[in-house]
Amino acid sequence: MFSNKYDLVFMTYTIRILRYNPQSDTEPYYREYQVEAAPHERILDVLVRIQSDHDSTLALRKSCGHGVCGSDAMLINGENRLACSTLVRDIKGTLIRVEPLPGAPVKRDLVLDTDRFWDKYQAVMPYLIPSEPAPDKERLQSPAEHKKIEESTKCILCGACTHACPTTWANATYLGPAALLKAYRFIFDSRDQATGQRIERIASDDGIWRCYTAYNCVEACPKDIDITWHISQLKKAAIRM
Ligand code: FES
Repeated sequence: MFSNKYDLVFMTYTIRILRYNPQSDTEPYYREYQVEAAPHERILDVLVRIQSDHDSTLALRKSCGHGVCGSDAMLINGENRLACSTLVRDIKGTLIRVEPLPGAPVKRDLVLDTDRFWDKYQAVMPYLIPSEPAPDKERLQSPAEHKKIEESTKCILCGACTHACPTTWANATYLGPAALLKAYRFIFDSRDQATGQRIERIASDDGIWRCYTAYNCVEACPKDIDITWHISQLKKAAIRM
């Protein structure tokens, strides 16, 4: 343990990362790095330090660094989290285990192949489909109408929910929590007119009825969105139709 000129206390942490390069490795393996880190630092800072000071071959995704873009979701000590929103002090002990999100093919190290995730997102038509031509200014919505969809608009599409879902692990074609939440966001938008088409898509064999309310998605969501509740509202809407 030591402190720097700003009196920040640094400690040595063991960062155990699941590495895999499909071009050279036959299977994934763990590699450990001893890294000096302060408790207030983010796991993302630690990973970037490993990349710059210890091992430039480590692959990971990141962009905004502030919990907005959703690109650095990963499994940190067994929980799906954003590396940029998880502090070193959030982890008990000095061993920090970092792995790619489960339930998806790995391109390399912590980088997932996200094609399947985005295909499911596209399947729910994630855009406004109005029946009226565009007005001169914006399409208006009352505060009460917006309130209905407000929570669902906070999704940053990090995939932490979908890759925490046991149904997704067991069934690769299940739309999954993130895509279903996006469907909610438009089905309950007062300005959208494609409810029937979307309900038809999500009430299919790979849609809402495969959600068994495990609540893993709610626990994994870094934005605290109650995704299971939103899926339950979709089920009610489908029954009403
Ligand atoms: Fe953008 Fe973490 S880097 S959400």
